[in-house]
Amino acid sequence: MIKFSEEKLNKVKEVMARYPEGKQKSALIPVLHMAQDEFGGWLDTPVMDYVAELLNILPIEVYEVATFYTMFNMKPVGKHLLEVCRTGPCMVNGCDDIIDHIKQKLGISEGETTPDGLFTLKPAECLGACGYAPMMQLGKTYREHLTKEKVDKLIDELRAQAKN
Ligand code: FES
Repeated sequence: MIKFSEEKLNKVKEVMARYPEGKQKSALIPVLHMAQDEFGGWLDTPVMDYVAELLNILPIEVYEVATFYTMFNMKPVGKHLLEVCRTGPCMVNGCDDIIDHIKQKLGISEGETTPDGLFTLKPAECLGACGYAPMMQLGKTYREHLTKEKVDKLIDELRAQAKN
């Protein structure tokens, strides 16, 4: 059964309480982030339905928002989500080479996850760190001025961590 932990549920209520009665929908984006964190890194339909129930809004209102923003995953993702920016400044600084290198190294295409469930490659639009191009988001951190060598080191470190 899909249900937030007691602690998370309290946090959800706290976020909802920031808005006037009847305006709970305003809490949708932060609650979707919490749901994505809590329920395996993506938003399955029953999870979105649960969020709709909590906020007392229609499920379609949740689907509309969740499918619009790329930071919400609509299908399962690996433990490490490599979101490589491919907008202008990152593009002129070689993001295509970085994306190709990751594809080759991991043996996956854009949007796919490695068979061991460790990595998903997801190209992203501008992540607001253009001065550090090319860059990617990895979980809650940014990896900047990427080179193929930096990517290799990062992937190798994450693989090693997974073995421990
Ligand atoms: Fe890549 Fe802005 S273009 S962070």
